[in-house]
Amino acid sequence: MSVVLTELSERILTITINRPEKLNALSSEVLSALASSIDDARRNSEIGALILTGAGEKAFVAGADIGELSRLSPIEGRDHSRKGQALFAHLESLGKPVIAAINGFALGGGCELAMACTIRIASRSARFGQPEVNLGIVPGYGGTQRLARLVGEGRAMELCLTGDQITADEAWRIGLVNKVVEPSELLAAAREMAKKILSKGPVACRMTMEAVHQGLGMPLEQGLDLESNLFGLTAATSDMKEGMTAFLEKRKPVFKGC
Ligand code: COA
Repeated sequence: MSVVLTELSERILTITINRPEKLNALSSEVLSALASSIDDARRNSEIGALILTGAGEKAFVAGADIGELSRLSPIEGRDHSRKGQALFAHLESLGKPVIAAINGFALGGGCELAMACTIRIASRSARFGQPEVNLGIVPGYGGTQRLARLVGEGRAMELCLTGDQITADEAWRIGLVNKVVEPSELLAAAREMAKKILSKGPVACRMTMEAVHQGLGMPLEQGLDLESNLFGLTAATSDMKEGMTAFLEKRKPVFKGC
């Protein structure tokens, strides 16, 4: 059985990390399979959105594979971190919305993976944390950076320095996840969110994701400039004409993504 399962239906690709006996820990094999599914998703125009989840009821992803990490030299550790960071950055800039459906433990690399997704929906039973300090290491797949951007410096410091786990409700309260649902409703809620986004103007959604992601790394003035340029660009699309015409004609728009 493959460590990563994929299923495409209604333009939504569901990627399931499938190593439940090890709480879906990110081994090199999982990371390679994930990289190849993400590459396929980028290339395949039949895929409009992604859902990322973990197999079993216990874990989304309980982190990088500690057995593998324990054998790394300092230089290998740096390379390993850069490889993971590059994969998560690739996911983040896919140009298609990725909904993390967090079904259980999202610890270390699991929390980092969820943070690289566009939107996070958590099952009420999910648990979040950056427990790397318990192992004597620093988060290495973007945790120190994305967590501080999502929840602010103080809360990121607390989570990364104490290694504490927090509940899904607490993760929602601090802005780490967008929504908390009952475990049995998780995949349906993720699908509903993906479908809603897919019903909007595709070019507009893509440019919005670009504006927000790239803008966060820029001074405000430069980010606003980026926004204006993308706004101008959408004015050249037939989706814009369709969206506005449909509003004025009091009907639903039919977007073509161009
Ligand atoms: N890497 C490798 N294996 C892992 C793992 C990880 N990050 N997380 C869990 N596993 C394995 C366990 O070693 C165990 O394997 P085994 O049955 O062969 O011994 C199996 O998954 C089940 O985990 P277990 O610890 O028995 O479950 P639990 O319910 O008692 O505890 C956790 C669950 C999540 C609290 C605990 O597994 C844990 O702390 N995991 C590590 C989390 C972490 O530090 N992540 C960051 C890594 S950088």
